[in-house]
Amino acid sequence: MNSETQLFDSREMRLEKSGAAGGCVQLVYISRAVRSENDSSLSDILGVARGYNAERGITGVLCFAYGRYLQVLEGPSREVNALYLRIGRDKRHEGVRLMKFTEVQTRCFGLWSMRMIRFDEQSGGEARALVRFNGFGGFEPELWSGEECLVFLRDMARVLPERG
Ligand SMILES: Cc1cc2nc3c(=O)[nH]c(=O)nc-3n(C[C@H](O)[C@H](O)[C@H](O)COP(=O)(O)O)c2cc1C
Repeated sequence: MNSETQLFDSREMRLEKSGAAGGCVQLVYISRAVRSENDSSLSDILGVARGYNAERGITGVLCFAYGRYLQVLEGPSREVNALYLRIGRDKRHEGVRLMKFTEVQTRCFGLWSMRMIRFDEQSGGEARALVRFNGFGGFEPELWSGEECLVFLRDMARVLPERG
């Protein structure tokens, strides 16, 4: 453990660092679910994620739609990198591709140790409309830039009601 301390402004979630090592980073990746994920495996992932992330100052959003994942992780560089390696080894998904990795001063998703956003054929009317509204033709994160992935997650997290 080093002496790095992090303080969060409750309104803006501005990350302030004291101590030398490791700023706050933002990492975005995409992947494909190996089997069509059901509610219980998603809630398994989420249950583990929320506990692990909260202990390590990691926040973010996990979007699952049409068999694909799009996730953003924010937090101390060391912790985010370690988690990304664990996630990359997880057999529940494949084709893990890094879309964005940057150092940031301010968290975009600081309210959630891991928020889940999920949509599909059954639940997707509202989300599909939003995707079109936001200028994304459909949910095709593999065709987007890293920045577009991030904008998408930010818009969805802002507009969609929180469920569970
Ligand atoms: C799409 C996806 C996203 C995940 N996101 C997280 C996460 O944010 N935090 C976390 O601790 N685990 C997450 N996991 C679970 C990890 O991959 C891993 O199973 C968990 O950290 C337990 O690690 P272990 O099996 O090495 O003990 C995710 C898994 C998948 C498939």
